[in-house]
Amino acid sequence: MKRSMIARFAAIALVLSGQGVFAQGTAPQFGKDPIKAIVKAMSLDDKVKIVVGKGFSLPGMSMGSNDETPDKIFAISGHTIPLAKFGIPSISMADGPSGIHRWAMTAKDSANNNFSTAWPVGTLLASSWDTTLIHKVGVAFGEEIKDYGIDFILGPGANIHRNPLGGRNFEYYSEDPLVSGSAAAAIINGIQSQGVGATLKHFAANNQETNRASVNEIISERALREIYLRNFEIAVKRSQPWAIMSSYNLVNGTYTSESNDLITKILRDDWGFKGMVMTDWFGGKDAVAQMQAGNNLLMPGSPAQIKAITEAVKSGKLSEAVLDKNVEGILNVWLKTLTAKGFDYPNKADLKAHAQVARMAAAESMVLLKNSAQALPAHSGATVALFGTHGYDLIAGGTGSGDVNKPYAISLADGLTNAGFKVDASLQKSYKDYLSDYAAKHPKKPLIQEIMNPSPFAPEYIVDGSVVTQKADASDLAIVYIGRNAGEGNDRKVEGDYRLTSQEADMINQVSDAFHAKHKPVIAVLNIGGVIDVTTFRDKVDAILLAWEPGEEGGNAIADVLSGKVNPSGKLATTFPTVYSDVPSAKNFPGKEFPEKATMGMMGKSIPAEVIYQEGIYVGYRYYHTFKIKPAYEFGYGLSYTKFTYSNLKLSGLTFHDKLTASVTITNSGNTAGKEVAELYLTAPKGQLDKPSEELKGFAKTRLLKPGESQTLTFTLNAKDLASFNTGKSAWIADAGKYVVKIGASSEDIKLQKGFTLPGSLTVEKVHKALAPQASIDELKN
Ligand code: BGC
Repeated sequence: MKRSMIARFAAIALVLSGQGVFAQGTAPQFGKDPIKAIVKAMSLDDKVKIVVGKGFSLPGMSMGSNDETPDKIFAISGHTIPLAKFGIPSISMADGPSGIHRWAMTAKDSANNNFSTAWPVGTLLASSWDTTLIHKVGVAFGEEIKDYGIDFILGPGANIHRNPLGGRNFEYYSEDPLVSGSAAAAIINGIQSQGVGATLKHFAANNQETNRASVNEIISERALREIYLRNFEIAVKRSQPWAIMSSYNLVNGTYTSESNDLITKILRDDWGFKGMVMTDWFGGKDAVAQMQAGNNLLMPGSPAQIKAITEAVKSGKLSEAVLDKNVEGILNVWLKTLTAKGFDYPNKADLKAHAQVARMAAAESMVLLKNSAQALPAHSGATVALFGTHGYDLIAGGTGSGDVNKPYAISLADGLTNAGFKVDASLQKSYKDYLSDYAAKHPKKPLIQEIMNPSPFAPEYIVDGSVVTQKADASDLAIVYIGRNAGEGNDRKVEGDYRLTSQEADMINQVSDAFHAKHKPVIAVLNIGGVIDVTTFRDKVDAILLAWEPGEEGGNAIADVLSGKVNPSGKLATTFPTVYSDVPSAKNFPGKEFPEKATMGMMGKSIPAEVIYQEGIYVGYRYYHTFKIKPAYEFGYGLSYTKFTYSNLKLSGLTFHDKLTASVTITNSGNTAGKEVAELYLTAPKGQLDKPSEELKGFAKTRLLKPGESQTLTFTLNAKDLASFNTGKSAWIADAGKYVVKIGASSEDIKLQKGFTLPGSLTVEKVHKALAPQASIDELKN
């Protein structure tokens, strides 16, 4: 059909649909005419339809709709309102960070090619310390997003692991802002290389799920700048995500989505962010304040928000110029989208090829925590007694919007079998029967309830003691498998979650006694979304493999590492403490509630709460090291099946000018090919501010080194790497004095070090005074 005929039919359709006389030819057109001209030609109603989403209406569930046109993409989290007269299409957005989420989780609903790859979760990817690998995942992920015609993916998440109980930690990367920001930038660059948008979230300080939509996070300016914003700053500057999602919580008394300090002064002015900012779903309270803050797009969008913004402009409470700026910002980003470009997407993805990327990324990122007497790698013909329900039922990823409509999830039992191990058949049958019996007796709740409050797992199955003894005779080795899951809406608990359940402890004790009596090894596999207490059982097993939540190919990837097909090279991006009470935020998590002030909102009962970040900048290893608290496994730690030696640390100079480079040679001094992550920590002179004993300022991973082979890794230190945030001056300042570069295999295992001098103090960067807490915080000091 000719273009002119299409336009005529479209015009007739619009007149019939009651949207007024078709203005094509007279109204400026999106994609053809300047955005400014379109905004100029828009009525107030038109503009408001750009800044408020289409509403939340999914199959079988609606929470108010702003537009009746059918959704372009099936059951995803959000769409925007189309404006036909300007040729502005409806833009689509789907969760989430570890794969495409559709709000229909049954095989039946996912029948139309709608399955998506479940990638390893953020915490696992970060444990690779390999931005090239994470970028590779991003490229494949981006390809899939594009193939399904989705304009924006609602991820990655990059908040800091402030506390091990954080329900969404699995979606995030690390306790350290450099690791978090680098990982986020790598995946964003990969995703966006495919012409689809990434949405960096949740900006900022979404460090807990308890009262997530009403909690006021009280944080010093320094802790914000150095820890809770620095991750986002690195990601924004290195990858310019098309979108950022503000968080649900308040920071220092203001909802992040309503904070001009956060969204305009810091994000746009200090950091140069060019994209659009959207709210989290139903986040914040005041649509007008959100507009004024520069939070351009309110998602998923409600009729009440349309009304509030329209009235505010009419009454003069909201300047139309502010609205115009927000509209312009959004349209400029939308111009880049697939939909704007009329991309004819195939609506099917290369799930087979992507599964291989997911498997490789998972195996390359897993962390070997313990390996006594070379219990691993295990011979792939070995007979394995696999204990633990999740060994037969993989936890590929977390719950809520971070869940993925995956085609399958390979359990470890299947992964071992695929790799040639002989998995004990009668044990396998008992576990599978137990799981299917439990599932039959505990049907799932309705979709939305299941999403926000997932049904608990089946309790650990108790294998009879005599059976365990019998398996110790019949098998070459035992695997004890521990599973954990969490997700948005809820934080984890210490009892029975951070700590083992009594059934799990019994299982480990029983297996350990029986197998060790026969001098056979016991391997623990941890399929967990967040840190757990390992101290109660680590002495009872010979090896521990931390698989985190490894995505759909998990069982195959774990088997790759257990068999030695892949030599583990992941390292911890988050500390495993000795006891929960050692965690620096333990006494301020999840904060204090004010139930007398509770109200009902869009997201149910909302209880105002506050959390005071008394630990200040002392998060994770910055705390454990400075205050000499020994963790169970420290930040940056991870074993390999080979050994590495570090030599020849060289600095480009002994005095710092604009930048300085450090290089180090890593040699594989063992017998197996492997990769090593080297970490650069910097100790800064005391100067005017309190400082952690050292901070990570660089990291690099070798290629696969054969035994005897070496590689030289180079790190660059810029002035900002030397600086701390001086609140009084609202500036990043590097103090004069002696700095020490420490190259380590972990934060505790420093191999080489060398000093350099900064002759005079440097004001590296002056920024806006922003986000000051209203009250003084009694912050931890060194
Ligand atoms: C989550 C976001 C998600 C959004 C849309 C919210 O509940 O916090 O991470 O992107 O829903 O599904």
